[in-house]
Amino acid sequence: AYVNGVFVAADADGAVVPLEDRGHLFGDGVYEVVRVYGGRPFLLAWHLERLAHSLAAIGLANPHSDAEWTSLIEQAVAQSGAAEATVYWQVTRGTAPRAHTFPDVQPAVTMVVRPWTAPPAPRAATLLCLPDERWANAWVKSINLLPNVIAKENARRAGADEALLVRSGAITEGAASNLFVVHQGVLYTHPANRYILAGITRRFVLGLAHDLGIPVREVAWPLAELAAADEVFLTGTTTEVLAVDRILAYEADLPSLHQLGEERPRGLVGRDG
Ligand code: PDD
Repeated sequence: AYVNGVFVAADADGAVVPLEDRGHLFGDGVYEVVRVYGGRPFLLAWHLERLAHSLAAIGLANPHSDAEWTSLIEQAVAQSGAAEATVYWQVTRGTAPRAHTFPDVQPAVTMVVRPWTAPPAPRAATLLCLPDERWANAWVKSINLLPNVIAKENARRAGADEALLVRSGAITEGAASNLFVVHQGVLYTHPANRYILAGITRRFVLGLAHDLGIPVREVAWPLAELAAADEVFLTGTTTEVLAVDRILAYEADLPSLHQLGEERPRGLVGRDG
């Protein structure tokens, strides 16, 4: 792991977050996850580009140049000794007494490298459709992942692998992945607007489709048309490209977080537990 300039074992005493770190208090930070294949971070330049956009979006100065980030990540991977790994790193607004307005402190940088063991192949995913209740800036890779965490947990409890998030009748993405639909030879995926995280794997797959001459349309796929899809698959840094073979129906009577009013949810937000 890496904590503000120092490499430490992830379980070492020094690998801790201060009580008043703004990430800890407010979720005031952004993150990235990159896969390491054969000791080399995959598509790191694109991850660094997205990190820069996320930092700018929340008004946080990028603490490192791309060359510095690359060197830090490569050092962390080398020290971990893992050839197949994920690197998670985040930048928070730093540590200061709790007040909502921005403090004048240095951002905090932490990083963890974890060895990666691939799930047994071949595999296909089951999805559970759920309302997309995230804020309207899903394009920012914010560490505030409570809606994603709850959606994924509700999917798990329903026996599904991933949640399929639906906003205004259209599929946006998964809780931690992007979604593609194949229909009559055309590849569809949600446009990279504010309502999805523009995945690095999504971008890579769109590039492959372009190279292969596969027509692509970046338009949202309506939930009501899902049954018409020829194929559905997910993309993500840790998900890679994963076929979907089963989609569990959206529960239309499920109270949305915004519609709860006086009604008290019995289980996790928006769903019976
Ligand atoms: N999640 N959409 C969301 C909401 C995500 O959290 C992710 C990735 C993706 C796929 O993006 P990419 O291809 O860049 O990984 C799409 C990461 C892996 C995570 O939170 O662990």
